[in-house]
Amino acid sequence: MALDLTPEQKATGKANFDQAAGDLARGGKMKDTMAVGGDPTRRDLLKVGLAAGAVVPVSAAVYFGYESWKGNKAVKTAFIGTGDEGGVLVGEHNPEFNEVVAVCDIRPTNLDRIFKGEPNGPRKGLDKIYGADAEKKIARYDSVEKLLADKDKLGLEAVVIATPLNTHDPITRLCLDAGLHVLCEKLMARTIGRCKDMIRHAQDKGLLLSIGHQRHYSTLYAQAMEVLNTGVLGDIKHIRALWHRNNSWLYSASEAEKAKYALEYGLPYYIDGWWKPVPKEDAKALPPERLKELAFGNPAVYGFRDVGELVRWRISNTAGGGLMAELGSHQLDASSIILGHVHPLAVSGVGGKFFYGTDPDGKNRNDRESDDGVFVTYEFPGPTHPKAGKGGKNADDVVVVTYTSMNTNEFESYGEWVMGSKGTMFLEKEANVYLFREKDKTKKGDAAAGGRDTKVTVGGAGGGKPALEATSTWGGGGGAAISKAAGSPEWDTAVRGYRTEMEHFAYCVRRWQEQGGKVSYEKDEKGKLKYADILPRCHGEVAMADAIVALTANMAMAKRERIVFEDAWFDPKSDEVPETKHARKQA
Ligand SMILES: NC(=O)c1ccc[n+]([C@@H]2O[C@H](COP(=O)([O-])OP(=O)(O)OC[C@H]3O[C@@H](n4cnc5c(N)ncnc54)[C@H](O)[C@@H]3O)[C@@H](O)[C@H]2O)c1
Repeated sequence: MALDLTPEQKATGKANFDQAAGDLARGGKMKDTMAVGGDPTRRDLLKVGLAAGAVVPVSAAVYFGYESWKGNKAVKTAFIGTGDEGGVLVGEHNPEFNEVVAVCDIRPTNLDRIFKGEPNGPRKGLDKIYGADAEKKIARYDSVEKLLADKDKLGLEAVVIATPLNTHDPITRLCLDAGLHVLCEKLMARTIGRCKDMIRHAQDKGLLLSIGHQRHYSTLYAQAMEVLNTGVLGDIKHIRALWHRNNSWLYSASEAEKAKYALEYGLPYYIDGWWKPVPKEDAKALPPERLKELAFGNPAVYGFRDVGELVRWRISNTAGGGLMAELGSHQLDASSIILGHVHPLAVSGVGGKFFYGTDPDGKNRNDRESDDGVFVTYEFPGPTHPKAGKGGKNADDVVVVTYTSMNTNEFESYGEWVMGSKGTMFLEKEANVYLFREKDKTKKGDAAAGGRDTKVTVGGAGGGKPALEATSTWGGGGGAAISKAAGSPEWDTAVRGYRTEMEHFAYCVRRWQEQGGKVSYEKDEKGKLKYADILPRCHGEVAMADAIVALTANMAMAKRERIVFEDAWFDPKSDEVPETKHARKQA
């Protein structure tokens, strides 16, 4: 099935979702599984608004349960790693929740960029947010150690880390040692052993650790989940997730670019965001011996052999985890949320360096260590499978999730299709959600209709089992308030989840203080986290599961084998990790 839909089909699918969400909320069928602490005011608000037929402006703060922020002081925060993602996070942060007091990066060009920002898109820059004199108020550091030495002077309480994958665990450890709460970007760490170390260290220090899988804070995914949890899609047997790009167009450098870049590190052969040119200024500031000093005492693991590897860390097997870590982890995270926060049973797949490489004439065609194409199949437990945790005994109840990511064709771009026996939901590019009905073979005429052009309402929403029904017109007024509004910018803040993720992190810090400055991952007899209301939604244990899912796929592809996931891998207290048994080419 292709991810292509005509504009008319998209309009139908979006209106279907809005209508279904409205019908289900009016009927009191939303199960509220994504809300932190199950705040009752949130649900009442949804219901009242929808009953009146209006489009409800439910704020993310209300939705995620941190609307009581008013009166709290912003958390003094430093951003470590001010590259592409650091730029997005700075651009998206809310100064009322996180006040940026310092920034830290080892690349001078990125420290400059974080102040100046970019003219278009989400990287607004500190000057735009804090005023043209931002640099007078916000300190800049060229090493983590120097930043932490000034933590008291800065009044620092927390850090946001957006550095290459191999540096996540040493930087997190240092910041926790300095008594700071940590929000670290995904993937959590380069190996599962290192994820476990991060979790245990945060526990030992009694501090918060949040990992940046932003879909946990996306109102779009939250509401999609509420609709999915009502069961209107029927029996879900397949999720198809993919992220395809086309990075196979020839790069040509202008004379100005040639003057700006350090040519000894090569110029790209193809236009590919993972194989970037190296700015001269960064090359000058970061010769290999300086990079060694900056490698937290272990250059082979936490370092970069040269500035080329630093700039292109994603394609290095030591510094990055390839397509599964960078792209797949997000979408497998979404899949496991959709399937009820379950862990997969097994993974197999094919991956390789199918396109880039070195020509016979020795010309480097954006060569890399990591795979440039991954084609993976996961087996997840369905609701009646013993591993779904619902008391089921049907070991055949398996949901197959396929994941593909490639670099030479973006006809289908990115998104996740959830395919049920009664309907299909398509989450497109973290920005839109569409809903379609399957044809009903027990009915005749218009009532049997299904597919891409069929309009739906939800029958039985008030009593009985909700079901998608074909209709010639939408009715009932007012739909879902939360999906991206037509015409709103691609970077729709609440929908994307970055801003809400940081706001919630700040809220957790203040709640942590109120509760006497302690936290634990202890669970009660029902398996519920005792500190659930102060833990970030994507805390260490959740994020480690995403890392296991992504990195084990790399191992399965490297060894061309089907790997069965072991429960102990997901337990932070256990020392069992997948890399011990399965690592070969890639950990
Ligand atoms: N959540 C998302 O959707 C999303 C999207 C993109 C990237 N990311 C994640 O964000 C992180 C950064 O990715 P990026 O695209 O910004 O990479 P990038 O290369 O553009 O930026 C990384 C920055 O970290 C800096 N850095 C490296 N070592 C450092 C150290 N020891 N101290 C301070 N700074 C250091 C680099 O100089 C660079 O400026 C990665 O973990 C990536 O997976 C997340």
